[in-house]
Amino acid sequence: MSPDSPGTSGASHDGAPVPDAGAKSGRDASLSGSLYERALRVLPGGVSRNTVLRQPHPFYAVKGEGCYVTDIEGVQRLDCANNMCSLIHGHAHPAIVEALSRQLREGTAFTFATETEVLYAEHMCDRSPGFEKIRFVNSGTEAVMSCIKAARAFTGREKIAKVEGAYHGIYDYAEISQTSNPSNWGDLRHPPSIPVTRGTPQGVLDDVVVIPFNDPETAVAILDEHRGELACVLIDPIPHRVGFIQANGDFIDAIRRWTTADGSLLVFDEVITFRSAYEGAQSWYDGAPPELTALGKIIGGGLPVGAIAGRADVMDVLNPLAAKVLFPHSGTFSANPLVMSAGLTAMRLYDRDAVARLNALGDRARRQIAVGIADAGLPVSVTGAGSLLRIHMSPMAPTTYREAYVDPERAHKTKRLLEYAFDHGVMLINTGSAALSTVMTEREVDTLCEVLLGALRAATEHD
Ligand SMILES: Cc1ncc(COP(=O)(O)O)c(C=O)c1O
Repeated sequence: MSPDSPGTSGASHDGAPVPDAGAKSGRDASLSGSLYERALRVLPGGVSRNTVLRQPHPFYAVKGEGCYVTDIEGVQRLDCANNMCSLIHGHAHPAIVEALSRQLREGTAFTFATETEVLYAEHMCDRSPGFEKIRFVNSGTEAVMSCIKAARAFTGREKIAKVEGAYHGIYDYAEISQTSNPSNWGDLRHPPSIPVTRGTPQGVLDDVVVIPFNDPETAVAILDEHRGELACVLIDPIPHRVGFIQANGDFIDAIRRWTTADGSLLVFDEVITFRSAYEGAQSWYDGAPPELTALGKIIGGGLPVGAIAGRADVMDVLNPLAAKVLFPHSGTFSANPLVMSAGLTAMRLYDRDAVARLNALGDRARRQIAVGIADAGLPVSVTGAGSLLRIHMSPMAPTTYREAYVDPERAHKTKRLLEYAFDHGVMLINTGSAALSTVMTEREVDTLCEVLLGALRAATEHD
């Protein structure tokens, strides 16, 4: 079972790696095993998203309650994956269930605007100084794509820059070099544009400039070669694939100053990181906020969502009332009332106190794990920020994508870690990461730490 090879195999829709191409379904007498047999006949690889693949078969959920999820076999686990960091209040939060039930009775989609979308837009624009206007879309991928298209429309430029190894969804331009590896990543001073999907047009590769993470000098030297060409520089402030390592102030500062001088836009992908502070992780950095921010995951209250938010004049490229609409944008289910009700309820609940409490739980988890690692002398490390953490099968905490890169040996250990945790009642993200939820208490965090430390001992016992 289990996912493996973080960073060594293909890309999934959630920013997590896919298991071995050779993973087989295997025959299995379990309910999940027989469901998977049927799924294999009608879904490519038997799944709708690569992230849920495990060997010998995926597990099928029947119920989520608070911070626990129960599979079809009746096994309950502490859910530290939270649908890939999207369930900030865990499963079936009563206030969200109530809001959704009310909306369900009133209708699920209209060819009208709704008051809820206005209320939600007001909430988000009040929440973060960088959000003067917002447009809701349906996924993080769509949000990132819309940011890039808006940046192009605003600047009249075609190229973008992005960080090596950073996952931003599956839009052609955004997925470039998301899975670079030692055989193709080349010279750090000029990382090549590596395609993820076969058939990626050469034009796309030519239009994406790849920069290293947290290395301001090298990044700026690369950007300098493209002065006047870039529509935007796209940054995730705690990129999952890069290791859930926080972008340092110098790096963000350097990029902020460079884009301002260049006339290109700074775009933050806060699809995961918005949870990290009430205003989003962008509030950690000095200087003007990013012109545009991509949002998703937690802002849907458990339903599929995305949003693009930012400076009013930039957002105006979407303005359908303009004499010439620079970026015509639509979406049948954009700002769908179900998503708006769930999202607004979730974000109102995620107030400053809730953010502070959750981040304190994250600090507690990372501290306990780090102490446990040091006490046991384990050759592993932990990184992360706010309510996110990631285990690395290397003694030194990485600071760059290349250091965080998971080679086959580390991948094998990560697989053992995940299997142990899963078998001991804790569900992690298949990169060895965890995302906490507000319904957790110190008790659940202590359970997570205890199981993780057991898993780390098991995963490294032959070292
Ligand atoms: C940082 C980041 N950006 C964008 C996306 C894409 O979001 P979605 O899966 O909703 O399309 C993800 C998904 O994991 C993500 O982690």
